[in-house]
Amino acid sequence: MKGVDLSVQLGPVTFANPIFTASGTWGYGLDFVDLVDPAALGAVVTKTLTAVPRRGNPQPRVRELRHGLLNSIGLENVGLQAFLREKLPALRERGVRTILSLAARESGEFATMVAELTRHEGWQGVELNLSCPNVAEGGLDFGRDPFRIREIVDSVRQVLPADRALLVKLTPNVTSIADLAVAAQDAGAHAISCINTVVGLEVDLETRRPVFPRAFAGYSGPAILPIALAKVWEVARAVDLPIVGIGGISSVEDVLRFLVVGAGAVQVGTALFARPTLAHDLVKELEESLITRGCASPMQMRCEELGRS
Ligand code: FUM
Repeated sequence: MKGVDLSVQLGPVTFANPIFTASGTWGYGLDFVDLVDPAALGAVVTKTLTAVPRRGNPQPRVRELRHGLLNSIGLENVGLQAFLREKLPALRERGVRTILSLAARESGEFATMVAELTRHEGWQGVELNLSCPNVAEGGLDFGRDPFRIREIVDSVRQVLPADRALLVKLTPNVTSIADLAVAAQDAGAHAISCINTVVGLEVDLETRRPVFPRAFAGYSGPAILPIALAKVWEVARAVDLPIVGIGGISSVEDVLRFLVVGAGAVQVGTALFARPTLAHDLVKELEESLITRGCASPMQMRCEELGRS
């Protein structure tokens, strides 16, 4: 078999391959340019940006556990304006396919941020972070409510240029993630990013208190892979949209698992902290694995039971 077509279409945008970085795990896409070319990835998803800069939560913010990582960062970020001024031009110059992860304290703020973005070039889409477990306003209270999801996605679609992609990142911390995905689809999302972190808690036995000041934190890494696969499967049976699978990827076999359960692309996250070049290696390894399996495209790994949506 000749080469594989790795390209993936999310709404109006074609990405050269289906390996993206997950928000919050690779900065703003420029930290590792001495090691690897970020333009070689399907896309870089930025650390979540808010309308104004955020300092994040008090320490401690991170705990490494046996099979995963707990974080309570609290959306620390430079703010949208500083990103547009200081980061986006460099990403654009390098030809990096950039998806901006966005969060907001009020529903209407998402559309306001996207309207601001339309004055700038060099980005291919936005991912609405409706699922951060580490903030008091926005975050999970938006992302657990199908009506709120519908309202936000609809308002963003009204200002989003026709040639940009709209991804919606969902939380697994609900009874039915399918209901949330259907709401996003009905309101005009182009793709579902699935999943954000699983709510967890770590205990300090000396103080007999939760380690994190907000008690709860977001759990990621290898331990959540089976949870993520189950949620992607659930979403794939509920909607016709492309799914971007996220959660615990550390090998090409994990990427293939996501493709089988219905993902069209994936985001590599926590594993990048230990190995920042992993996503790049996976692009090459995915191509080789698909050739070995006689697949001409990632879509051919999809489980037949799911159909060919
Ligand atoms: O706390 C954080 O910055 C994490 C964000 C998220 O999981 O969306």
